[in-house]
Amino acid sequence: MSFTGIDAITFGVADIGEAQRFLDDWGTTPISAADDRLAYQTRDGGEVFVRKRGDADLPAAIEAGNTVVQVVWGAEDQASLDATIVRFQAAGIVPRLDADGTAWVNDPNGLSVGLRVSRRRKLAVAPTLPNGPGVPNRIDARSPVYERAEPVKIGHVVLFAADFEAMCDFYTRLMGFTVSDQYPGFGMFLRCKLRGEHHNLFVVNRAGKPGVNHVAFTVSDVHEVIGGGIAMSKKGWKTEIGPGRHPISSAYFWYFHNPLCAPLEYYADDDFCTEAWQAQSFVRAPELFAEWAIAGGIDGTTRRQTLARDDSGRGHP
Ligand SMILES: [Fe+2]
Repeated sequence: MSFTGIDAITFGVADIGEAQRFLDDWGTTPISAADDRLAYQTRDGGEVFVRKRGDADLPAAIEAGNTVVQVVWGAEDQASLDATIVRFQAAGIVPRLDADGTAWVNDPNGLSVGLRVSRRRKLAVAPTLPNGPGVPNRIDARSPVYERAEPVKIGHVVLFAADFEAMCDFYTRLMGFTVSDQYPGFGMFLRCKLRGEHHNLFVVNRAGKPGVNHVAFTVSDVHEVIGGGIAMSKKGWKTEIGPGRHPISSAYFWYFHNPLCAPLEYYADDDFCTEAWQAQSFVRAPELFAEWAIAGGIDGTTRRQTLARDDSGRGHP
């Protein structure tokens, strides 16, 4: 009963042109573009759709402004998908089935959630190997400097939960996700597969106010995080926070303001968990969000820190 990750995500936005400019710079591959909709793909075939906010055939958004209006989770195979549908039915939730085999439900936030057999490709990514003293993994080879990022996949979404317990129950019991770590009563890091990346979903308690905290795209390694972030900075896109590193999940990150939703993130080198992973409970602290991070990021030209102030009130859990 296993999902493998995010197959597709749909953003509802006010300005299609600005979203297109951003995604072209972000490094996703354009598939199609029209006045009212865009389609892009990540390297593994993950689908990024952009639609005009409020269009009649879109599900209702869970918050005001530009945001995520649909997330499609990819199942390992038809048997996994069928088993999930049966679990939903047993819980009194009857998924709506599309002609293409996607089953649709709403999560407790009211977000439209699609379930289908994954259409993403398995990719052979070659992250740069680190050298340690006496441990040469990378021999006669320089580490790369990336001119821009090309996201490998849609790695995770972070959702503010209006009803935290209900959201955790929905994604663990019905979707079958595994808890990787948590802030008890406040935040739950969930991975789709028992053997998989640290989190594909992070649920954050914000009673009565559903929303999206951020959406994250996986890149190959820390060098692509840095090269991608600098390229975005050169294009004029503003850093929310980064570059930095998360102690929980170990990932290197860089977050950007954007015209699609709450911040979008490049990240790499997150923990890979198995059944032997020891989930931990943490008490919230800023140093657990970031071991280090550069407020406002690097300006992309002089490599100096830019000054930034966050007036959003959104913050990072
Ligand atoms: Fe993230």
